[in-house]
Amino acid sequence: MSLIATLVVTRGGAGRDSVRQRYNVRFEPGESLLDGLCRIRDEQDATLAFRYSCINANACKECMLRLDNKTVYACTARLEPREMIVEPLPNKRVIRDLVTEIAAPDERLPRSTGFKPA
Ligand code: FES
Repeated sequence: MSLIATLVVTRGGAGRDSVRQRYNVRFEPGESLLDGLCRIRDEQDATLAFRYSCINANACKECMLRLDNKTVYACTARLEPREMIVEPLPNKRVIRDLVTEIAAPDERLPRSTGFKPA
């Protein structure tokens, strides 16, 4: 039997005002917040931005975000049949929606200066 979670997701960043957007998403007991975000992107809103890599191994740390004012890994936090507040990390630069700048400054690739024809 599917359940319904209401995810209230903070969106915006990169110079845009942030807004909260509500998504009702179906889930099976035991599914993760990351499962719900992927389902939203697949079925409702392809523009929703979030980051992940290892899916559920809790190894890459790329899915970190805020859930109900606590920092969590989206791949290990469980969906629940209630309203859940989902926000980007508060102490990082927001790139877009739930994607934040998490790489240390000395680990970032330099910005491209663009192609310059000879
Ligand atoms: S997706 Fe890798 S730790 Fe969550």
